[in-house]
Amino acid sequence: MNAGFGFGKRKSGEVVVVPAKDFDERVAQILAEALRGEERSGPVNLTLAGGGTPRGAYECLSKERRLAWEEVEVFFGDERAVPPDHPDSNYRMAMESLLSRVPVSPERVHRMEGDQPDLEAAATRYERLLPATLGILVLGLGKDGHTASLFPGGDPVGETSRRVMPAQGPIPPRRRLTITPPVIQGAHRIFVLARGSEKAHAVAQALYGDIDPVQCPAQLARDGTWILDESAGEELPLPENGRNS
Ligand code: 6PG
Repeated sequence: MNAGFGFGKRKSGEVVVVPAKDFDERVAQILAEALRGEERSGPVNLTLAGGGTPRGAYECLSKERRLAWEEVEVFFGDERAVPPDHPDSNYRMAMESLLSRVPVSPERVHRMEGDQPDLEAAATRYERLLPATLGILVLGLGKDGHTASLFPGGDPVGETSRRVMPAQGPIPPRRRLTITPPVIQGAHRIFVLARGSEKAHAVAQALYGDIDPVQCPAQLARDGTWILDESAGEELPLPENGRNS
């Protein structure tokens, strides 16, 4: 059932809608193919999303073959202000589901130091680590339209020069570090992952709503590849919502 959005111009990116049971495997296949593509053109950098959605897909990605993990530089799109072993840590989630399962070089895994008391200094240090262009950027989507830790109306959403900033989220853990709009918009390949009907409205708003990235930061990734399960795609226009009729 469409939300009756005044669907604007069709986005130029790609929307992949899959049955929920296939979501993790499909995300892993798509990310593995993207990594192989990047390998062909030079050093690969992969920036990971946090939250809960990617966990299963990362586990599937860890089983994908023909990936030169030894060469991959790994970064994070955001991090909560918690220690790396905290249950809410995006770093911990990625380590458990992917990075401890593949032969990535530990010195090539660049953790955001969300646990540092001085988040401004931590942000500045991370900016210096980030590649000028992110090769593959994986993002999640909040039901309020946030992505990374760019929340509607938050300061970092309007940032045009800094590349990493402290952020304040409406949901605990509130203090965070995040990449900023210039980093997202400069990425070579963006993959946005969303599953569940609670995300359907945010998906439709991000892809077809009137352009207002301050209120819907996920619109910054509008022209990326969106990988959805059927529930998250249920407010999209035919045929993109994955239904044939
Ligand atoms: C974070 C994430 C955030 C996440 C969305 C979706 O640190 O929370 O980077 O942007 O991707 O909040 O979270 P779920 O996948 O848990 O729904």
